[in-house]
Amino acid sequence: MKSIIDQLDLNKKKVLLRLDLNVPLENGKITDTTRIDKILPTINFLLKNNTKIIILSHVGRPKGKVVNKLSLKPICEDLKKKLDINIKLITKNLKEINSKDLFNNFEDKIIMLENLRFYEEEEKNNIQFAKHLATLADIYVNDAFSCSHRAHASISEIAKFLPSYSGLQLNLEVDALNKITSEIKRPITCIIGGSKISSKINIIKNLIPKFDNIILVGGMANNILKYKGYHIGKSVKEDNCDQIIEEIFTLSKKEACKIIYPEDVVVGKNFRGSPEIKNLNNVLKDELILDIGPKTIKTINNVIKASNTVLWNGPAGYFENPDFAKGSYEIANKIIEKNKAKTIYSVIGGGDTVALLNNMGIFNNFSFVSTAGGAFLEYLEGKELPGIKVLN
Ligand code: 3PG
Repeated sequence: MKSIIDQLDLNKKKVLLRLDLNVPLENGKITDTTRIDKILPTINFLLKNNTKIIILSHVGRPKGKVVNKLSLKPICEDLKKKLDINIKLITKNLKEINSKDLFNNFEDKIIMLENLRFYEEEEKNNIQFAKHLATLADIYVNDAFSCSHRAHASISEIAKFLPSYSGLQLNLEVDALNKITSEIKRPITCIIGGSKISSKINIIKNLIPKFDNIILVGGMANNILKYKGYHIGKSVKEDNCDQIIEEIFTLSKKEACKIIYPEDVVVGKNFRGSPEIKNLNNVLKDELILDIGPKTIKTINNVIKASNTVLWNGPAGYFENPDFAKGSYEIANKIIEKNKAKTIYSVIGGGDTVALLNNMGIFNNFSFVSTAGGAFLEYLEGKELPGIKVLN
């Protein structure tokens, strides 16, 4: 992989910089800026080397349509403040922008193009779209490890048309994950939670041979509970997963990998509702499972206690409401306890998990914190990610 650090001649070059500024937004406000903070060194490096930067990113899943509440505007504002520099957000139809329209003002050093996923061509990895983006700059830099598992135009196809490099944060993420895969100390436990079930459920099978324990919590666990015959009320779930879950359990027996899932849960009538601890048999039709219960927390803590390496991706519940955050907090605290005693190597990943750690003010208590969720798991699976493949 060619890194931007090794590119000696950057002076006056226009750089298309793909970032993952997919940060959590609530009513137009950013609730966690970690993904922005992490890429500041790359932008500063490019500015120091006298380049002009065109930032590319997506936020959310607008599915090829303009969705005003998924504008990059608040993110652009935050970045402006942090860098103390003017950044123009270009909202004009991206397909009609020409290179000569950009940087007309000599003072302009950074511009940002509006949410790439407003265009259906982005997720289709459309060659014309990628080619057009490439006409805007001289080189391409991918500093978006957390979306490098997506074969999208601004991540994959684009690298065909420009000299392409990895950014500083992407290098750090890849180095940290390589370290775990090559220097692993068993027993090794993987905790998978969060709400992006479809992105993660297919990965589990490939992780089974590499782990001693796989703990499933959050939205992911609801599908397991449903498969096991429990009622999950209105809880988030993915359809048509029974076959894959069956395969997960069969393979886990063969590979001696223990699959751990909730023994009890915390439910609410809605996301703002009051919490109630329930046995698995007692979840009602109008209830949502929003956290793991105390028995489950105890089991998970014991597994962490016996592990030498832990990877954690995705919260155990709807931590945005403190009433449903206990499971995630307890997992975090148990890992920290072992980390402080230097008896565990811990890698934490994913946008929501990182936001959770920031909420708790404990961001620096782990061996490595990755901004990536799905990409992190796919990399561990041993897959060559589309965004990394094109840089190699
Ligand atoms: C992420 O948050 O993991 C990345 O930005 C990718 O987002 P996606 O799952 O919507 O493709």
